[in-house]
Amino acid sequence: MMRTTLILCGILFLAPFHVIAQKFDGLAETPPMGWNSWNEFACDVDEDLIKATADAMVESGMKDAGYEYVNIDDCWHGERDENGFIQVDPEKFPSGMKALADYVHSKGLKLGIYSDAGWETCAGYPGSRGYEFQDAQQYAAWGIDYLKYDWCNTEGLAAEGAYMTMRDALAKAGRPILFSMCEWGTDAPWEWAQDVGHAWRISGDIYPCFDCEYRHEGGWSSWGVTKIIDMRADQEIRQYAGPGHWNDYDMMEVGNGMTIGEDRAHFGMWAMLASPLIAGNDLRNMNTQTLDILTNEEVIAVNQDAEGVEAWKYQVYDSTGVWVKPLADGDLAVAFLNRSREDHTINFTWTNHVFNDPHFNYSYNFKNSEYEIKDLWTAKKMGTTSKPMKFTVPGHDLKIYRLSGK
Ligand code: GLA
Repeated sequence: MMRTTLILCGILFLAPFHVIAQKFDGLAETPPMGWNSWNEFACDVDEDLIKATADAMVESGMKDAGYEYVNIDDCWHGERDENGFIQVDPEKFPSGMKALADYVHSKGLKLGIYSDAGWETCAGYPGSRGYEFQDAQQYAAWGIDYLKYDWCNTEGLAAEGAYMTMRDALAKAGRPILFSMCEWGTDAPWEWAQDVGHAWRISGDIYPCFDCEYRHEGGWSSWGVTKIIDMRADQEIRQYAGPGHWNDYDMMEVGNGMTIGEDRAHFGMWAMLASPLIAGNDLRNMNTQTLDILTNEEVIAVNQDAEGVEAWKYQVYDSTGVWVKPLADGDLAVAFLNRSREDHTINFTWTNHVFNDPHFNYSYNFKNSEYEIKDLWTAKKMGTTSKPMKFTVPGHDLKIYRLSGK
């Protein structure tokens, strides 16, 4: 009796202190869409840029197309105050972060911010190590909606624990903040982060080229589009992604110097891979071709499809890979990615093919079922899968088709 009472007292005593934190549900049922400052502006961020970007997101039609988050990357930080609360750089953000969040919210958009699990961010600003709960509290008080959490200067830390700490801190702060993990795939987050973050980066940083590796001084590299697509092929990471927890192939470089075909291939593949669609160009100054790619409704619908399944690579013909993405209601998207510089004409006899998903139970047998085919760049109907389809994929470009059951 005495023992039971003691145990009960122990449980009662401990119970209020034992909080089981969870990430916020329902924030990323489809891949997040928005914009981030880093790819185009690096450390050159301030409140005017963020406000003008929010304005442009609305005026350009990007908001209507589904883009929602306006995300400030590294270099917004000032010092911590005497109580340890992080402050903005008063010169770059003279009105303060709360006022900026109010502005972005008044446009019907959401505001994202950046921090780092280590002692310093990648650009050398204060990291969240040791201040996780205070930082989360501060972000919540400011009205932040999205946190990108980086992995520089984390020597000696274990990724899973460090990211769980910030997840718990966000939960404690109480404001639903989308948690975007940026540890570059170093510790295979797809294997453990489903209940930790809403998306996790799978690669080092992207570079605005189709297939190059850009070597920085100091021995690290940034990666072209196809390098990132291929980076985790052996780990078969698509099996770990789904509604609420996505593989993040990095912020996009559409409009940042590649050819139109390369931008199309990049955007189309990010859609096929169910990656977050975070634009990385200057929204205040983009040409119609860039805007047309970024706002292609039907390609976005492939990315945002409720089934939440990433594409798999079915086959490669010469230099052209065929990718298949199962969609809701039995539809599917099929993309042909031409990696060579030469145009590639393909005569695709659908009825010779059966697409069997290597990880899930999707199977498409074109002998048994007929589908209508639509080219998502041209919006042209291409007939049905009952007949061979002849088409050309230009060099460094991508064709993407939606197939709908008849
Ligand atoms: C890392 C990240 C980038 C960017 C920079 C900022 O390299 O991977 O996406 O956030 O830090 O310093």
